[in-house]
Amino acid sequence: MRIRVTKFQEMKQRGEPIASVTAYDYAMARVADAAGIPLILVGDSLGNVMLGYNSTVRVTMGDMLHHAKAVVRGTENALVAVDLPFMSYQVSEEEALRNAGRMLQEGGAQAVKLEGGLRTADTIERIVEAGIPVIGHIGLTPQSEHAFGGFRVQGTEVESARDLIEDALAVQEAGAFAVVIETVPSELGKLVTERLSIPTIGIGAGPHCDGQIQVLHDILGLSGRQPKHSKAYAKLQETITQAIASYAEEVRSGAFPTVEQGIPMDAGVLRELIDALSSEQ
Ligand code: KIV
Repeated sequence: MRIRVTKFQEMKQRGEPIASVTAYDYAMARVADAAGIPLILVGDSLGNVMLGYNSTVRVTMGDMLHHAKAVVRGTENALVAVDLPFMSYQVSEEEALRNAGRMLQEGGAQAVKLEGGLRTADTIERIVEAGIPVIGHIGLTPQSEHAFGGFRVQGTEVESARDLIEDALAVQEAGAFAVVIETVPSELGKLVTERLSIPTIGIGAGPHCDGQIQVLHDILGLSGRQPKHSKAYAKLQETITQAIASYAEEVRSGAFPTVEQGIPMDAGVLRELIDALSSEQ
């Protein structure tokens, strides 16, 4: 049974931490779902992780829908939220609503996430009013990397920290059921979490948030990078490289495939075939 948005409110009330990860394809979504992850995000970080772009700004609605469908097919229990990509919700509230709707209708997701606090509050409200669950995203919002002048810690000064709290409250007021807080000092993550009734899900926002989200390929050691806020729980890049190299070596040496991997032909059919072939010569 798929988890519903109300579950996350209950988890916050019980003080039960929410462990969330991204997933972008069927195979990884199945694994994350089987591991008991209640909230899987099809993040637009797929632009970097899966498509090799150096920015999420390049990611399109088409890209997001394609990956969302695969993740939904790979999950039975997790609630699947999908990022609205850059320029899919900034032009007008109508366009934002239509694109959010597509994520549920075509993508099969249960919720959408969009970046921005106060500046996107009206858009969030419009989407929520239409019955689409929304997760907000404040702090370092990667789609605005050009406006920020790069990836910087947010909320480090009194004024910007107050702005972040305002952003969080605006997102909550607009009806979002959770908010992602990215790359802010841990103490600020705590102050925001204490002031909200909806769950905060941190990524580089300290241990006091109601939940944590990580890019799956970072925690698996598969992205070729290790952001400060992340930790590798496996070294899959090394493991996979070794596995592929061993396979290639066995093909070259003739050790693979063996009889075990072969498909034997029925002895009668083989005899008949050989007789037929030799009579043709
Ligand atoms: O796109 C993404 O991966 C995100 C993060 C919050 C994990 O938005």
